[in-house]
Amino acid sequence: MTTTAPRAPVLAAQSAGPGLDDVIAAETRLSHVDGQAGQLVIAGYPLSAIADWRFEDVLALLWTDFLAEPMTAGDIGEALGRARVTAFELLEPMLPLLRDLTSVEALRLLLSSLPDQARTPHCILAAAAVPVFSAGIIRQSQGLACVPPDPQRGQAEDFLYMLRNEMPTRDKVRALDTYLVTVSDHGLNASTFTARVIASTKAGLLSSVVGALCALKGPLHGGAPGPVLDMLDAIGTADRIDGWLQDCLARGERLMGFGHRIYRVRDPRADVLKAALAGLQDGSGRIAFAGQVEQAALALLKEKKPLRPLQTNVEFYTALVLEAVGFPRESFTNVFAAGRMAGWTAHVLEQEQTGRLIRPQSRYVGPMPDHSR
Ligand code: ACO
Repeated sequence: MTTTAPRAPVLAAQSAGPGLDDVIAAETRLSHVDGQAGQLVIAGYPLSAIADWRFEDVLALLWTDFLAEPMTAGDIGEALGRARVTAFELLEPMLPLLRDLTSVEALRLLLSSLPDQARTPHCILAAAAVPVFSAGIIRQSQGLACVPPDPQRGQAEDFLYMLRNEMPTRDKVRALDTYLVTVSDHGLNASTFTARVIASTKAGLLSSVVGALCALKGPLHGGAPGPVLDMLDAIGTADRIDGWLQDCLARGERLMGFGHRIYRVRDPRADVLKAALAGLQDGSGRIAFAGQVEQAALALLKEKKPLRPLQTNVEFYTALVLEAVGFPRESFTNVFAAGRMAGWTAHVLEQEQTGRLIRPQSRYVGPMPDHSR
């Protein structure tokens, strides 16, 4: 075997920190996150301006530059309806395979079963499949039969219908649409970056979004909203809030639903989701209690972490909205994927249209061959 003399590794590119903070890894027309100003722009619109749109509208906005044929939001709604029926046909034979899996593992399995040779455009199939699969996974875990989709309904309405087998109220449909739009895209977050890396190899859209889901499932990304409810349950009553939060930080643990890599001020998505909650019934007092926990947590984080501005992030109010519209907490990451699928698919299409293979370098810090031995 030939060996070379030990030498320091050559670094052509500038070195980035371990979390790639401040590295610009793609150019995109899809969304912009201004962490200092607390602003999220989706394809030219501030989030607050599109928060009352339907999910189909934001899909039309994000996909418009990439579809082979121009499609209005109405066209996309019809195509999604048909694709939900296709996804349901694929779901039923797979149900026995899902029994011992968590919700997100089951979604990962089902998404990866989507056929690469499907006649439906892959972005539409992927976006239509997540609500069908997620509702089916929930119902199977509850010992209930899956409810077939109705292609005439909007995506949010049909999602809730497939979940409960009953017509949802208008307020719940509106809240879910707001949620799906709010999380539709968010710059180069970990899962979207993953999708773009896979897309850059020309592996295809379905492979790219399966990879994105794998990145989303971690608790530092999309796996946090369930634990937000666990935290609220563990605190239990108002008199325990301060003590519980202090003990949590003293153990070196993180308060779920707070902090963000980019935002140094309040996450604008938290405010949109807080407003969406206003239209929903809350017989349990959960929302008021969560507000008390939020205020106490913010005060404590300010005191204990004075050098790091830590504010409420999207996951805190996600947990409350998704619980209020009827989703069980173990399904929250899958519902997040249903919304973020808009951004993942659009980024994949953009990457395929404009991008090169993403292939950064690493800095080697291991031993070099020793020729003296
Ligand atoms: N609770 C307590 N301390 C926190 C929190 C938190 N939620 N978030 C960050 N910190 C502290 C860290 O302990 C660290 O303190 P130190 O410097 O004294 O050690 C400092 O803030 C910086 O932490 P980093 O991990 O470097 O910050 P990063 O930008 O990587 O973290 C993250 C962002 C992962 C979201 C983090 O804030 C966190 O773990 N939050 C809780 C989980 C959560 O809510 N996840 C959902 C994020 S939203 C989304 O992805 C859709």
